[in-house]
Amino acid sequence: MLKAVAVITSSEGISGKIFFTQEGDGPTTVTGSVSGLKPGLHGFHVHTFGDTTNGCLSTGIVNWQGLHFNPASKDHGGPEDENRHAGDLGNVNVGDDGTANFTIVDKHIPLSGPHSIAGRSVVFHEGRDDLGKGGHELSKITGNAGDRIACGIIGLQE
Ligand code: CU
Ligand code: ZN
Repeated sequence: MLKAVAVITSSEGISGKIFFTQEGDGPTTVTGSVSGLKPGLHGFHVHTFGDTTNGCLSTGIVNWQGLHFNPASKDHGGPEDENRHAGDLGNVNVGDDGTANFTIVDKHIPLSGPHSIAGRSVVFHEGRDDLGKGGHELSKITGNAGDRIACGIIGLQE
C-alpha cells in the first residue's frame, strides 16, 4: 500500500492534514481533516506543482492547463464527470464550527506512475467549485472557486 500526506497551512489560520492511500492499481482514498475554514462549500483540487514558495499561488498558473493537475488535457469538471481534470476533487463541505472531516475515493489520482500526484499539492478555495457548470468564463478552467486560501504539498510516506 502506498501512503502520502499533505500538511495544510495558510496565512489565514486554516490548518489540517490530508492523508492518501492506494492499494495496487485501485482508487486512491483521501481522508482529510481541516479547521479554520468558513462554513459552506469550498473547492478542493490537486494542483500541478508542489511549490509553495509564493504561498498557494505557486501551485499553478490560471489559464494555463497546468493549474489543476491535468495530464489528459481535459476541461475542468466535477469528480463524477468524464471530462474533468485529474485534480478535480469537487467541494468539501465545512460545518458551522469551521471544520471538515471528509473521505473521497477517486481513481484519477494515483500515488505512483506517470500520473502520480506525489510531489504535487492540494488546495482549498475561498468559494464553491461550480464543477464546470456555472456558465462563468472560468467555469471550464477552475470552477470559478475563488482565491486559494490554504494548501499543502503531497509527500509520500513510508
Ligand atoms: Cu484549485
Ligand atoms: Zn479543474
